[in-house]
Amino acid sequence: MSRKKIVAGNWKMNMTQDQSVDLISELNQITSNDVEIKIAPSFTNLSKAILILENSEIEVIAQNVHFEERGAFTGEISVEMLKSIGVSNIIIGHSERRKYFNETDIILSKKVKVAIDNSMKIIFCVGEELSEREKGNHFELIKSQIINGLFELSTDKIKSIIVAYEPVWAIGTGKTAENHQIQQMHEFIRKLFKDNYGNDISNKLRILYGGSVKPNNAKEIFSLADVDGGLIGGASLNFSDFKAIVQAAHG
Ligand code: PGA
Repeated sequence: MSRKKIVAGNWKMNMTQDQSVDLISELNQITSNDVEIKIAPSFTNLSKAILILENSEIEVIAQNVHFEERGAFTGEISVEMLKSIGVSNIIIGHSERRKYFNETDIILSKKVKVAIDNSMKIIFCVGEELSEREKGNHFELIKSQIINGLFELSTDKIKSIIVAYEPVWAIGTGKTAENHQIQQMHEFIRKLFKDNYGNDISNKLRILYGGSVKPNNAKEIFSLADVDGGLIGGASLNFSDFKAIVQAAHG
């Protein structure tokens, strides 16, 4: 089963408007061919990104969304607002949102629901802390994150989900998970989808790896059987690094 690879850059809370425009203009020259490229600038840089990338195949992703459609939620951004500027992809459940903003499985499943109901594509992130892995709890934890966050979706709706496995201890640390750890977890996630939704859905599901993916390790990671690309943090802020990672995904 061949699945088109995805390389998605998560810019997190980086880049002023000018810096963002400069980087997007450089990225705009990358020809993607058989790789889907996505970038997730901050909310303030989304509109410009959409405008600059109007005729490009690079897709623009929001890093977060609120779970209510509208109302008195000072400081929050709704799905409708994102749609109104042309954003149709959202990252939900990044470990930094879970950890620093107390986003629980219940909150995340509400976000998934509102995004899916509004025809958004979702990159849903899961990942364990080092302490969970050391206790041997990592498979159970990932399973509960997936079941609680996603498995209320119908077979039709689950098709809009991309999963990103990002072990928390590998994010921003320069410490990548071992290849066998990555493959084992991705295979486990695909099996969960198979058991719940059947072969067709699980074979088509794209599972990205995230956590210190760099130009020097991307090719190896992307060649693992159940890895369908990467969610890239630090290295996505540098044009030549991100370009090299996209090239590594070309197989
Ligand atoms: P990193 O971040 O590539 O800087 O480790 C990955 C992520 O948080 O998505």
